[in-house]
Amino acid sequence: MTHLDKQKLIKKYRDLVFKTTGSIPKYFVETGTYKGEMVKAQMKIFDVVISIEADEKLFQESWDKFKNHKNVFIYHGNSANEILYFVTLSDWIVYWLDAHYCGGETADIGLPLMSELTFIKNANKHAVILIDDYDCFSGHLDAIKLMFSDVKIEDNVICITT
Ligand SMILES: C[S@@+](CC[C@H](N)C(=O)[O-])C[C@H]1O[C@@H](n2cnc3c(N)ncnc32)[C@H](O)[C@@H]1O
Repeated sequence: MTHLDKQKLIKKYRDLVFKTTGSIPKYFVETGTYKGEMVKAQMKIFDVVISIEADEKLFQESWDKFKNHKNVFIYHGNSANEILYFVTLSDWIVYWLDAHYCGGETADIGLPLMSELTFIKNANKHAVILIDDYDCFSGHLDAIKLMFSDVKIEDNVICITT
């Protein structure tokens, strides 16, 4: 799946929320910024884009890249904890959960996925949760299905609507 395909999937779910509820999701929350490619794509679409990166150098580069974009907020930290500050935003949130070690300079501090999902679930808000790289995280699928009722796999992405 190319990065553009991933962007199209995000758009598809954003549009689906609009079709089914009449609300256009305002917030895009990403875990794992890396070089900011997804931030760059989504800042044209969502009112507010938030992205959390654990690696200090990658964070600094993205922070510099987006500092003049008023609707983009790049945070430094472990998304396993930092996501807590965003799960209670008062509107539909589309999550792109993509924080994991992927070689090279990327952060290798353990997979934050189940902690992120627990915070999102406990916030009990309307959300679309898209988890990239299903093939890497398929071992978590049973646990995810116990937490959420509407779980699908589409193009190697786990797609959840709450
Ligand atoms: C696959 S890349 C993200 C790609 C990006 N989302 C995109 O679509 O362009 C994964 C990123 O997650 C970061 N990362 C790893 N563990 C993390 C954690 N616990 N919290 C936040 N970021 C983390 C890595 O440093 C790396 O930059």
